[in-house]
Amino acid sequence: MKKVLFIFLCVGVIIISACGESTSAINESVLPTVPSNYANLTNPLSTDAAIAGGEIFQSTCATCHGSGGHGDGPAGAALNPPPKDLSVLQLQVSDGYLFWRISEGSPGTAMVAWRGILTDEQIWQLTAYIRTLK
Ligand code: HEC
Repeated sequence: MKKVLFIFLCVGVIIISACGESTSAINESVLPTVPSNYANLTNPLSTDAAIAGGEIFQSTCATCHGSGGHGDGPAGAALNPPPKDLSVLQLQVSDGYLFWRISEGSPGTAMVAWRGILTDEQIWQLTAYIRTLK
């Protein structure tokens, strides 16, 4: 009986330490530096562009990112790395960052480069929309 308790304890410790690691990995994750040709860009469109951006987002991005951009779209569930919660990310990054990532994607992940598929105007509309996510 003591042996069983001991095993339970060990499993408990392993689970707790695994959880601890994953939380600290999120906290310590550092966002990449925006390349200089994107770094100083600001959205040339007005905030009204978020309306058109929202339509593109729902048809093109929501399958992975979720309709509210929280990273919970049906096609996003199985991805590694998973899509980030854009409502949180947008508070931490510049317009240039969002424009860069949507244009060039995130190499080695399911986030492809959308430049060439979408126009610069559409990418700025998406950037305006992502700014409205809560
Ligand atoms: C096939 C699934 C998929 C689709 C479709 C998709 N994304 Fe992503 N996206 C991802 C994944 C996965 C990541 C996380 C990449 C990473 O962690 O580096 C991501 C990351 C991002 C990021 C943040 C990048 C960063 O630096 O953290 C933004 C912004 C983004 N996507 C916007 C969009 C927009 C806008 C669209 C629609 C035009 C879109 N995504 C379509 C899967 C997708």
